[in-house]
Amino acid sequence: MSASWIRWPWPEQLLEGRPPLAYGGDYNPEQWPREVWAQDAALMQEAGVNLVTLGVFSWARLQPAPDAWDFAWLDEVMDLMAASRIAVDLATATASPPPWLTSAHPEVLPVDRSGHVLHQGARQAYAPSSPLFRELALELVERMAQRYGGHEALALWHVSNEMGCHNAPDYSEAAEIAFRRWLAERYGDVEALNTAWGTDFWSQRYGSFEQVQPPRLAPTFPNPTQVLDFARFTSWQLQDQLRAEAAVLRRVAPDVPVTTNFMVMGHTQHLDYTAWAADVDLVANDHYVMAADPDGQHELAFSADHTRGLAGGRPWVLMESSTSAVNWQPVNPPKAPGQLRRNSLVQVARGADAVCFFQWRASRAGAEKYHSGLVPHAGADSRLFRDAVALGADLAALREVVGSTITNDVALVFDYEAWWVLDQPAHPSAQLHYREVAEAWHRSLWESRVGVDVVGPDADLSGYRVVLVPLLHLVREETAARIASAAEAGASVVVTYFSGVVDEHDHVRLGGHPGAFRDLLGVRVEELGPLLPGTTVHVHGPSVGTATAGTWVEPVDVVDPGATEVVARYLDGPHAGGPAITRARRGSGWAWYVSTELQDAGRRRLVGRVLADAGVAPAVAASEGVEVSVRRRGEAQWVFAVNHGQHAGEVGGGGLDLLTGTEHAGPVPVPAGGVVVLRRPA
Ligand code: GLA
Repeated sequence: MSASWIRWPWPEQLLEGRPPLAYGGDYNPEQWPREVWAQDAALMQEAGVNLVTLGVFSWARLQPAPDAWDFAWLDEVMDLMAASRIAVDLATATASPPPWLTSAHPEVLPVDRSGHVLHQGARQAYAPSSPLFRELALELVERMAQRYGGHEALALWHVSNEMGCHNAPDYSEAAEIAFRRWLAERYGDVEALNTAWGTDFWSQRYGSFEQVQPPRLAPTFPNPTQVLDFARFTSWQLQDQLRAEAAVLRRVAPDVPVTTNFMVMGHTQHLDYTAWAADVDLVANDHYVMAADPDGQHELAFSADHTRGLAGGRPWVLMESSTSAVNWQPVNPPKAPGQLRRNSLVQVARGADAVCFFQWRASRAGAEKYHSGLVPHAGADSRLFRDAVALGADLAALREVVGSTITNDVALVFDYEAWWVLDQPAHPSAQLHYREVAEAWHRSLWESRVGVDVVGPDADLSGYRVVLVPLLHLVREETAARIASAAEAGASVVVTYFSGVVDEHDHVRLGGHPGAFRDLLGVRVEELGPLLPGTTVHVHGPSVGTATAGTWVEPVDVVDPGATEVVARYLDGPHAGGPAITRARRGSGWAWYVSTELQDAGRRRLVGRVLADAGVAPAVAASEGVEVSVRRRGEAQWVFAVNHGQHAGEVGGGGLDLLTGTEHAGPVPVPAGGVVVLRRPA
């Protein structure tokens, strides 16, 4: 168990030296009359809740006026939690400034790209670069740390909340000043900025940093490197807030770990969590399934594998998810029976040692009154609360997995900077969506029941037998070199089209595509090849059969036919007869190039071939529709099998099902919609 895990306050929680899985959620007692608080504590105990997040949106209560402070109510709740043996993840309460602040100082408000001020009345109405906001926020953090740093119930600090969820990017005057300062530090003199931004294009040369602005709405396409640097700055600025708040907490209460809740889900892309992860003592993530996404179950698995990658393979906290419906999607149906349990246990299967929700008790008022909680509007006599109690029992039964880790043979490289660049306009195609392409490759592995670590561009790739590099459009030389070394050392590296094309300034590498990967792959591409929407082509090769592809095709020249084999050729389309998929021997490994966007069936066959070549097989066999999650390993190993389907299935091998206590000798049945967690010898 890492020393940086939740600091469980009471010795009896550390039974046999092992802490429990954390279970609970956001608790907003200030929305409820006092008499409800005692009921809450009793119901929490009934459900097995052992961790609550307090104070996230409490600033207006804690500091009702500039020079008035009121901690009495929070003292009372903290003491109640301590008396109930429920640990607290205490927020710094800086997530949402109170109206007295924003009405007296409208200059702290964030501004959108068109120059519209985002006013008070919702939440997160602050410009992350505002010096006044920072000053007042840190005063609050100092008081929180001084008052509660030694409190018996305190287990974890929670900086702000979902930082940047609504106020990033911010184009305010404060952002402009801070952006210039950041650029001056990065480039030293304005000529270096002119070179990096390619400002001789369209008469954009700057005479001084004072002339530079954030990339506000402009007559046409903005300078791409300006946009990229502003994205970097936006992530850095909020990370700086995290660091500043964390520094206060660590100074006052050095033994209490610090986290903040990331948003690794769907298309949340403004913050480079790869860089942020170093600033938290443990990685925490919020994840919500999109109800209308037919691949929602897979998206959850991808996000969990990415969160584990950010955590460097160590256990992490699922800080928020929903017990049932949310309120912010176009249509918000409740979760299907059993889905709460399946969603939650998939997160544990993929490395979470905590399962928490937004929120404990569904609100009566406010914008989230139709968001589910553990205690719904119907009260504790409800299906949802009974499900919450059952989930608490499941998590208690899984206590032995705490602290165990997951090792996989396959890595998928995922880079926020590549995402920021790829999402810009004025590209060959607006049909390329970075996360969707990364998810598609991951899904082929998920369907093959082979575990994947989703890792950042600086990750150590040695030790992986397969390294997937989908659509890594921007790549630094160091990252490209690390990927090449992985192949030399024996890995099968798979790089897809439009990768390696630009450097860290978003400048095109000359001499042919795929730029940084040309030598590794042994191919050269002279022209990029977007396909018009709805157009498909076919590729064929002995080991992948005939596969349909779309979105993109490239005219690939094999540079060294002796070392580079054509695995599949285009059957039709603009490059009919030409190479579509190639494979080059590099050291004891392979470097594959896939010059088109294969549809699911073809991608899955190709992945099958790559895995077979690399000697990677699924750890466990299971029937169709049963997701077998990567093994967690410690003193034993644990196989999580989750049946998302309508039919009974099974998972191979035997073991002790921790959820039922049943010992199985042979294949283990997994009921429709059910979950089994099997302990096997390590
Ligand atoms: C985010 C926030 C919570 C709440 C939920 C609703 O995760 O952190 O405060 O708004 O979304 O799903």
